[in-house]
Amino acid sequence: MAKLRILTYPDPVLAKKAEPVGEITPEIAQLITDMVQTMYESEGVGLAAPQVGHSLRLITVDETGPKERARPMVILNPVFSDCTGVKESEESCLSLPTFLCTVKRSEFVTVRGTNEKGEAIEIKAEGLLAIILQHEVDHLDGKTLVDHASRLKRTMYASKVKKWLKD
Ligand code: NI
Repeated sequence: MAKLRILTYPDPVLAKKAEPVGEITPEIAQLITDMVQTMYESEGVGLAAPQVGHSLRLITVDETGPKERARPMVILNPVFSDCTGVKESEESCLSLPTFLCTVKRSEFVTVRGTNEKGEAIEIKAEGLLAIILQHEVDHLDGKTLVDHASRLKRTMYASKVKKWLKD
């Protein structure tokens, strides 16, 4: 197992639409294991493969967080159906240090995909889990919290990051 490096804004991989995952090769299985570990060790509740440099439709989620680690979930090729309700949530992202943004999300979602064994799964989620799933699937479509923010907020963050990169 290895902790992977998490890419941060404005890495171009984060802005790319990710490709579907095909067969679960030993490399993909290893990536899944490493992503779960990386998520926990980074104090995250979710991670998407593009965040660790793989433009693949693969996410890991555990809404119980790194202390409990009670509900790790792996979803390959996740697709939403039945998204209902509206909920505002304040979110942060491992790929956007210091950035906080209020996002409008669906309150209830159903996600279909496959698990790490290649079995079809369907997850009905609400609350925090529903929000995390929407946040992570955004990453697969090349979308991050900055894309949900106002133009002003986005510009300010971009110049802040530029300054960090210079220092
Ligand atoms: Ni994120």
